[in-house]
Amino acid sequence: MAVSLPEAPWWASAVVYQVYPRSFADSDGDGIGDLRGIAGRLDHLELLGVDVIWLSPVYPSPQDDAGYDISDYQGDLRQPRGLRRAARRRARAWDEAGDGPGRQPPSDEHPWFIESRSSQDSPKRDWYWWRPSRAHMEPGASGAEPTNWGSSFSGPAWDLDERTGQYYLHLFSRKQPDLNWENPQVRAAIYSMMRWWLDRGVDGFRMDVINFISKAVDADGSLPDGIVRDGALFGDGRPHFVCGPRIHEFLQEMHQEVFAGRPELPLTVGEMPGVTVEEAVLFTDPARGEVDMVFQFEHVDLDRGAGRWDVRPLRLTDLKESFGRWQAGLADLGWNSLYWNNHDQPRVVSRFGDDGQFRERSATMLATVLHLHRGTPFIYQGEELGMTNAHFERIDQYRDIESVNHYAEALAHGQADEGSLLETLRTVSRDNARTPVQWDATENAGFTTGEPWIAVNPNYPEINASEQHDNPSSVFHYYRSLITLRHAEPAVALGDFTMLMPDDEAVYAFLRRHGQTELLVLGNFSPEPRPVLISDPAAWTGAQRVLCNIHSGAVTGASNLPELQPWEARVYRRQVG
Ligand code: GLC
Repeated sequence: MAVSLPEAPWWASAVVYQVYPRSFADSDGDGIGDLRGIAGRLDHLELLGVDVIWLSPVYPSPQDDAGYDISDYQGDLRQPRGLRRAARRRARAWDEAGDGPGRQPPSDEHPWFIESRSSQDSPKRDWYWWRPSRAHMEPGASGAEPTNWGSSFSGPAWDLDERTGQYYLHLFSRKQPDLNWENPQVRAAIYSMMRWWLDRGVDGFRMDVINFISKAVDADGSLPDGIVRDGALFGDGRPHFVCGPRIHEFLQEMHQEVFAGRPELPLTVGEMPGVTVEEAVLFTDPARGEVDMVFQFEHVDLDRGAGRWDVRPLRLTDLKESFGRWQAGLADLGWNSLYWNNHDQPRVVSRFGDDGQFRERSATMLATVLHLHRGTPFIYQGEELGMTNAHFERIDQYRDIESVNHYAEALAHGQADEGSLLETLRTVSRDNARTPVQWDATENAGFTTGEPWIAVNPNYPEINASEQHDNPSSVFHYYRSLITLRHAEPAVALGDFTMLMPDDEAVYAFLRRHGQTELLVLGNFSPEPRPVLISDPAAWTGAQRVLCNIHSGAVTGASNLPELQPWEARVYRRQVG
């Protein structure tokens, strides 16, 4: 359990675990993970020692975007209730309604949208972004969309509804129409749904792309076109909806209407692509009453060039510059969340580590560096096992709408050939994170007795939870040590952060200081031995080595700082002045 520190909210020393239900555990053999499956695996989470469980959507859904297209936020509760009771006995918080409520009830099959699309006079017409075709153009003609924006899942961000002759906006799938937050009835309906979940015992929300809810509307009600970059098929609408003009107002209102006055304030996490440090300070300053922490994307965009599909190697100095700026920016006000992985990111051991010879060592090094920053760490299912990318060979193995649509669109427009597209997907696709959790060495990794909805990674006989539970030097047990350290050591939760060796391309080094305690964290991001070049190595003579991913057990009285072995991580503690 996380320690209670008088100076900080409880989640400063907590660790969150994300469950992606479709891929976690299947109890009824239909090949799709389910709530009973999760309930059957809570021992794993209890042993790991996490404090909060965040569930990706478990609501009724047409599954166009793997459950992020929700058709009923208040679906069948029987199973969630049982699961919540079971989980609460083991973790502090239960964040089951987590995903979605912020931006939209994303499915076009939600009754609100069905009503809204029924006629131009529908009382719910204005609950979504309906617009006529571009001036002097016939609806349905090429380029007649109200703006030139592209959707995140390829194609235009507008779809024509033939019956009423108007277009609706969808920043993601065409089956995820955007709600119109300008309309106070929409906001009231969402707040009421959120209160309903809190009254049923959830402890917080992770709000999906919440910084896209306010759009920059022109005085006449129209939305502006975006710039079309070289080689792009559509305009970039982001400047008109990322952290739009009323975003802070909406979040403050939500806080007042939903969270304020509750005896134990629920945890709120805002997923915010494109958010800057300066904006994050505003979003997370407790005095402003918006959200507790944001999910920012800067560090997971550093290995991208011109856009999402342009992959380039990570420069460690860029990562240090970015994380260092976020640590400094939120040092006095606000709070960081810390993550490498989630259901939208490829597996970190394959991305920034070495998923071959040094898989375990690089996975644990990456975990050490991340978890010892200031902020709340998030573990995505399977990360604690060092699970790797899927390494799919064929397009028909992919299920993710973003990957499949991109492949089709890029081929159709001659932007790339099949081979290079498959290569890119092997590195970037969200499906890399969505293969089933590898529980044991039995068929289908113990995930299902049926046919899994997406292929199990064939490396499950070597990488699985059952083997790691019994192996004290496994990635799993190393994650346990990191969580225990955060719970026990206030310097991890609260210490100041100082980056060391900012220009070194291989070693990530930093200090954490709280009161008289100082921690030195070292990680080698390379397959070569590397020296530790800090300005005052002698200060660490006699320090305690509290964690190392090569040698287990704490050691006191280190006399020097030996060079780091390939992918090695080490943490020292000393008392100062
Ligand atoms: C968020 C989710 C992602 C989803 C998107 C659209 O970014 O994390 O999985 O596809 O929103 O709903």
